[in-house]
Amino acid sequence: MKILILSPAYPPEMPFFCRGLAAVGATVVGIGDSPAGALPELTRNALSDYLQLPSLWDEDATIAAVQQWAGARGLDRVECLWEPGMMLAARLREALGLPGLGCEQTLPFRDKEVMKQVLDRHGLRTPRHVSATTEDQVRAAAERIGYPLIVKPIAGAGSADTHRVDGPDELDRVLALTRHVAEVSVEEFIDGEEFTHDTICSDGEILYENVSWYRPRPLIARTHEWVSPQTISLRDIHAPDLAAGVDLGRKVLKALGFQTGFTHMEWFRTADGEAVFGEIGARPPGARSVDMMNYSSDADMFTAWAEAVCHGRIEQDLTKRYNAAQVIQRARGEGRIERIEGLRRTLSRFGQHIVSIELLPPGTPRRNWRATLLSDGWMVVRHPHLPTCTRMADEIGTNVRMYAN
Ligand SMILES: Nc1ncnc2c1ncn2[C@@H]1O[C@H](COP(=O)(O)OP(=O)(O)O)[C@@H](O)[C@H]1O
Ligand SMILES: [Mg+2]
Repeated sequence: MKILILSPAYPPEMPFFCRGLAAVGATVVGIGDSPAGALPELTRNALSDYLQLPSLWDEDATIAAVQQWAGARGLDRVECLWEPGMMLAARLREALGLPGLGCEQTLPFRDKEVMKQVLDRHGLRTPRHVSATTEDQVRAAAERIGYPLIVKPIAGAGSADTHRVDGPDELDRVLALTRHVAEVSVEEFIDGEEFTHDTICSDGEILYENVSWYRPRPLIARTHEWVSPQTISLRDIHAPDLAAGVDLGRKVLKALGFQTGFTHMEWFRTADGEAVFGEIGARPPGARSVDMMNYSSDADMFTAWAEAVCHGRIEQDLTKRYNAAQVIQRARGEGRIERIEGLRRTLSRFGQHIVSIELLPPGTPRRNWRATLLSDGWMVVRHPHLPTCTRMADEIGTNVRMYAN
């Protein structure tokens, strides 16, 4: 099996996916815009050929270059696990006559309006929604939908340019803030908890399922810097209070005709237990969420994906044994990380349940917490018992404190 992977070095999970492909026996070739010499070691070791392009996003030029490239001879598949490259990957598949999602099947995974229209046609519960390209259209949509509502880009990520609006006055303010966004979705605001439904599929069959819980809701986490956001890959995804979401996730995949690869859906659970669709990507979640799946099962989901893509089955034992919580840290103060407090005490209290510490070391400049979900680093704690896991995760969020100056 010969596989072309788009952007094999970025985002930071990509080197692990490349390694996974090589580990299951695939011949892996890559295209991207960084120089071959700058590729991470894992990527370099996995690739048997690499084509550096002046700009990956000049799609016509990229397609023409790949068609001429000796490295592309005998390709079986084109894979892309990064949201901005989904359409380019689809165009490449069509140009090279390869299986996998084409442009028409990719669009509903990229355009949040088309996505919800398809699901509506299948009778699946989405927030009421209207797309708008002008201020007048947004105002008209707000009239129809009522408050509170959400205004968000039709192809956003990481809650960027996403706003909750509680009334007409606030709408004026949000319109001013979103002027640079060409097209927005205006949506009914769904109150509730937020979860994911992630899968690895082969030929339309689900081989692996994961549910993660976002604490608190991503929009809240993105609004308040003091929050230490958590993503918890849950052990018991068959718990009764998740059933409606898992069922919705399975139906969404059917409705969209998804065949092979990773998927990442987000859904809301309302106070009365209803599951409402949020969004879906034909790719894994980012922000190292796949690592949480790994910690949850003591497995390697990067390689599991590669197994599914190359062999149509996963041989690893994927039994979930733990709830694995990623606790993200945001330092107090600006500038460089100066010190980390509370870590020693936390480790002495329940260090045997902490499986990863990825905090920026003192001396490093802080990251922009709005621009990167991972902020100033994260820790992972896991436990088979969910309330024990959330208690420890909350203690980490409260007691481990990073300071910058
Ligand atoms: N209809 C909605 N009701 C309530 N909250 C929403 C709604 N749409 C989006 N949000 C909030 O905004 C966040 C980001 O929106 P989402 O559609 O997931 O886009 P992104 O691609 O930026 O993740 C969600 O996780 C949720 O917290
Ligand atoms: Mg989202």
